[in-house]
Amino acid sequence: MNKIIRKILDVGADFIALFGNNLSQKEARGGSPDKSGYDYSKIAKVARRVGAEGSILLKNDDALPLEENTRVALFGRVSFDWFYVGYGSGGDVRAPYRVSLADGLCNANVNLDEELFGIYKKWCDNNPVSHGVWGHWPRYFAEMPVGDELVSRVSERADVAIVTIGRAAGEDRENNLEEGSYYLTSDERKLLKQVTEAFEKTVVIMNIGNAIDFSFVNEYKIDALLIAWQGGMESGNAVADVLTGKVSPDGRLPMSLATSYERYPSAGNFGARAYNEYKEDIYVGYRYFETFDKDGVLYPFGYGLGYGKFQREVVGVNYDGDKINFNVRVTNIGNYPSKDTLEFYIEPPQGKLGKPVRNLVAFVKSATLAPGESETLTAEATAYLISSYDDTGITGHKSCYVLEKGAYSAYLGYDSRNAEKIFEFVENEDRVVAECNVIASSPTVFDRLRPIKSEDDGYDKGYYLTPERAYDLKERILSELPTCKPYTGNKGITLSDVKSGKATIEDFTAQFTLRELEAISRGAYIMNSPLGAPGNAGALGGVLRSLRKKGVPAVICTDGPSGIRLSATCSLLPIGTLLSSTWDPKMVETLLAELSLELNDRGSDMLLAPGMNIHRDPLCGRNFEYFSEDPVLSGKIGASYVKGVQTHGASACPKHFACNNQETNRCDTDSRLSERALREIYLKGFEICVKEGVPRSLMTSYNKINGVWGHYNYDLATTVLRNEWGYKGLIVTDWWMRHSSSPEFPKMRDNAYRVRAGVDVLMPGGRRITLHVPDGTLLATYGHQNGITRGEMVRVANSVIAFTLGMKR
Ligand code: BGC
Repeated sequence: MNKIIRKILDVGADFIALFGNNLSQKEARGGSPDKSGYDYSKIAKVARRVGAEGSILLKNDDALPLEENTRVALFGRVSFDWFYVGYGSGGDVRAPYRVSLADGLCNANVNLDEELFGIYKKWCDNNPVSHGVWGHWPRYFAEMPVGDELVSRVSERADVAIVTIGRAAGEDRENNLEEGSYYLTSDERKLLKQVTEAFEKTVVIMNIGNAIDFSFVNEYKIDALLIAWQGGMESGNAVADVLTGKVSPDGRLPMSLATSYERYPSAGNFGARAYNEYKEDIYVGYRYFETFDKDGVLYPFGYGLGYGKFQREVVGVNYDGDKINFNVRVTNIGNYPSKDTLEFYIEPPQGKLGKPVRNLVAFVKSATLAPGESETLTAEATAYLISSYDDTGITGHKSCYVLEKGAYSAYLGYDSRNAEKIFEFVENEDRVVAECNVIASSPTVFDRLRPIKSEDDGYDKGYYLTPERAYDLKERILSELPTCKPYTGNKGITLSDVKSGKATIEDFTAQFTLRELEAISRGAYIMNSPLGAPGNAGALGGVLRSLRKKGVPAVICTDGPSGIRLSATCSLLPIGTLLSSTWDPKMVETLLAELSLELNDRGSDMLLAPGMNIHRDPLCGRNFEYFSEDPVLSGKIGASYVKGVQTHGASACPKHFACNNQETNRCDTDSRLSERALREIYLKGFEICVKEGVPRSLMTSYNKINGVWGHYNYDLATTVLRNEWGYKGLIVTDWWMRHSSSPEFPKMRDNAYRVRAGVDVLMPGGRRITLHVPDGTLLATYGHQNGITRGEMVRVANSVIAFTLGMKR
């Protein structure tokens, strides 16, 4: 076929595949009536509680909770046109209903000023919002102009004003440094000015998915400031529970809020199309601010007020060389039932490596404690987590996690700033905690940050070079090539024989022909596969009749993370950032365990979630799907998400492995970073999630990591994930992949390059959806020197079969 025609077909096919075959945004967000008869009451109850407990009270001068019968003036069109979730694959859920803040306050019988309510309602009905199309979604909704006269009239009869400000973000594009995205619009500012000047008390509610500029808090007389995030279908009820004092907003910030965008360490080194050098290295978020720029913080990581007041008593701290244990008794000495969140930070010695002065190593949340009630809480962290990775050999232990000699101080915090020293232990000598293989170094050498002791006993910024790439990946790959049982041809062994223990997985896959091995390493080509429920993201496994005859089922995948993305009606849940704001892994697990039942009901075997990438920069368009700037919080919440989803048989699929920290040019941009930053920050959350949550599948990222795409990255998929962390599950690509040949084995391209890397399944399967035939790249080098081997293909088949054995549907 003529190259140009093929190119046109390819581009057209990409377009249809990405944007055409799922729900339109309008349908998806419309809240169409549920015809399934599914009982949402249980999951709704948990989602409502999570929504309330994950909201964060940043300021409260006696304005919240509202006293009974308080007369409330509700401002801001988003109160009526709420942002329930972000846009893109992570938000495209057809919810059975959606409760706006206005609805929630009515449901809670809050005494709302009727005239104002009526004016807003009518204006919103006459000026309906538009959700746009893929990549062109709104970032905010235009405000209703409000005259001074109306504000003044309402302020005479209402006790409190609520102003809601909303922002949305979405996949495939960033937020930007403009009014209506990172900054407030002039209309929003005008509204804040009018209301705060007229009312005695003003409560501002932030209905956002991403961190935005909060500096406005000091420009107006705001009495209470609440981040409500985007809580899915139960949003309005959850926020009403907080405002009326039914539930304490016990959320804590999962990211630092800076005084201005420019203060974030990634600013200036984010969003470039070709590559970004992560010069801030491991100094991400509070790790940076606490070490170098305390004044750059408006609200620190881990901060949040809640309605409770707690007394803390350290009962004991113990370090045995392997682990540190914390034992703290908390008592609610306030007037409201509430939960306390204990945050444990370590300040390690600077040593030769240099380290952030605060590192979250553990956290624990209390139960809801009534006034006067106490609970003793325990938390622990391993020496491995406390140690630092030496990627240059400066300690004499290259490629090792090292506890450098010196004093380690432990802090118990209300947040990363307000933390009290409670313990110290000393390492007398440098100690190696784990030995690793060097991985994935950057193709360029660049200056990365480190602290230098300053004269005033703080730290100035110093820089040192990332190491040069110096290892033989080809040799590593060849020395680890997997082997398999020889091909047996069809012996009549079926999957049921494997299930009943009559045969092993290896006996079963030894029967597979090359055609079957090729098919099982890719999905059924398209999204919305006819093998699954309408609106699915694709199918894998039994994608050939001959495989299905042997008993291999089709594995049906659906997006995530805020519910199930199908044509059918499904629960719309709070966004990832709200989940992590709870700092409550148990609660997150309970919510996702409810979703696990729904996954079975809807016929989904794999939920493409949770989103695990680090909030490196507040402008990343998908931060709302992700958890935090901190890998320990991300990892623990991610693990609980996975455990919840996997309660009743479906599998979670943490994504995007790794460093998908921006959306700009996401399929080609190269995230360049030191091995230390990679391991300590960007992989650490995945590591904790994999080791503690044990997901049965995992998704690679679109972007390159140090020059190599996630779906071709041997060191990430094989050296680290499987060999180092002991991961036993399936690895799938993010949807489609870039074409390339292997630098180590130039004759291997595309699917062969991918399978050699250890990435099992190309999703949704075809090179392009127009070509419903194998593209030939997997088998092209089979039988040639250093070409793809049966052992490698059987390893993939074994992974897929092992996955299907875990399915209970
Ligand atoms: C996204 C993934 C998503 C997949 C399937 C991709 O564009 O990056 O997060 O799971 O599409 O919808």
